[in-house]
Amino acid sequence: MDGYTLTHKTPSRKDFIDTADFDQSEIKDIITTSRTVRDYIKGGGWLNALFHKSLGMIFEQKSTRTRVSFEVAMEQLGGHALNLAPGAIQLGKHETINDTAKVLGRMCDLIMSRVDRHESIKALAEFAKVPVINGMSDRCHPTQGIGDMITIVDNLPEKPMNEIKVVFVGDATQVCNTLCDMTTKMGMNFVHYGPENHKIDEEWLEIGRKNVEKYGGSVAWSDDPECLKGADFIYTDVWYGLYDKETPKEVYMADFYPKYQVNDELMASTGNPNCKFLHCLPASRNEEVTDSVLDGPNSLAWDEAENRLTAQRGLVLYFSGVAQATLDYIKQQKEAN
Ligand code: CP
Repeated sequence: MDGYTLTHKTPSRKDFIDTADFDQSEIKDIITTSRTVRDYIKGGGWLNALFHKSLGMIFEQKSTRTRVSFEVAMEQLGGHALNLAPGAIQLGKHETINDTAKVLGRMCDLIMSRVDRHESIKALAEFAKVPVINGMSDRCHPTQGIGDMITIVDNLPEKPMNEIKVVFVGDATQVCNTLCDMTTKMGMNFVHYGPENHKIDEEWLEIGRKNVEKYGGSVAWSDDPECLKGADFIYTDVWYGLYDKETPKEVYMADFYPKYQVNDELMASTGNPNCKFLHCLPASRNEEVTDSVLDGPNSLAWDEAENRLTAQRGLVLYFSGVAQATLDYIKQQKEAN
């Protein structure tokens, strides 16, 4: 892989709804596009590949990273993003999601949405003629998954992929589901370490098992701290507040604290002093992760946040069908200088 040549010159699907819809080669194409464009822009290069293109961003929930990274990505690529926040458009009050999709699809070149229910992102994709990107649903968080894999690839220890171990600690959130797919799709070993009543769904373990059959590695759930041994990456996410607004916070705290808090002791129990820490953010400091780990020398959380921007540039280029042309242009510029 030279960083300039993609296996898929155009996307196999119009929309980016779930990483599980894509095979390893296509996920690698998105990661390659994202990393090459990042290096070019960080090196002072500029691009106009999405000149006059518009991204409509519908948010049914709050967002810092997803919103800002898509907006900045579009601006850096010569395009424009519209923040269609809750209450700012007719959606949900006077207009259905299907009609909203039909209209936005005629005005925007791309749509990205964070939705309460996965069915909503699927409806947007069905009724809009343009590519639709899932900015998180109650099922999965695919754009986070691309940023996470970029961060992992940037920090891989020197050993074969099928010896890399990633342990997700705590609640089986949307981020955990996507990480299970992404790591096993890359041939790594994935473990969800959490209490049985918050265990990753069997459907995602099955997706992981199918990846393992194709690409190697392994997939498991465990509530035994022994599973932390040998981890190269420990990942966690908040225990409370993403989609379940009904259960009191105290119930979640009792289920997870103190066993599943990522603290210095838990990191040390991996037996790997170089084990890296990942968190999608925002973090509830000193609940699922202590300050000492989040701000510690092995934390990649801030690189990971920056790589949301890396990923969004790659995604909007790839699903606009101009990723290969952009990589060709970057290669020409580098050869000319
Ligand atoms: N990680 C993540 O999706 O962050 P935001 O909710 O701020 O977009």
